[in-house]
Amino acid sequence: MRSMEITVLVNGRKRTAPTEARTLLSDFLRHTLRLTGTHVGCEQGACGSCTVLVDGEPVRSCLMLAVQADSSRLETVEGLAGNGELTDLQQAMLEEHGLQCGFCTPGLLMALHHAERTGLDAATTTHEVLDGHLCRCTGYGSIRAAIERHWRRVDVAE
Ligand code: FES
Ligand code: FES
Repeated sequence: MRSMEITVLVNGRKRTAPTEARTLLSDFLRHTLRLTGTHVGCEQGACGSCTVLVDGEPVRSCLMLAVQADSSRLETVEGLAGNGELTDLQQAMLEEHGLQCGFCTPGLLMALHHAERTGLDAATTTHEVLDGHLCRCTGYGSIRAAIERHWRRVDVAE
């Protein structure tokens, strides 16, 4: 099987590793780089569990080959909490019980962080992010409450 070496900047750290041409980015992150926070559910782009940011944009990592990410800047859920401190958004998820089994949470958090960075309001974020992420525990009410709680705090701080 043809293998090549790729270099990516993951959560601010440069990583170089060999990968086969057919390896998915999700598998490269989980099995090669041991970043198992990125979850894999449907493997066909439907559930959103595997969402990571590639050069700042949300991407279903089960639909992208690792070799396509060569030289890219990747952000995964492991990069959110610096020094063990939860981000404000993670804190809001905790306070509103926005997760049950937590399987959908990493992908959801990455999409929410992207929405916040791009300046989306709470209503648009709820609509757009929840539209593209399946929660098998059906915890949508709590997730929605966490988004509203966090965006209220952001509005007050501004
Ligand atoms: S595992 Fe990638 S979208 Fe479901
Ligand atoms: S919290 Fe279980 S899948 Fe969403």
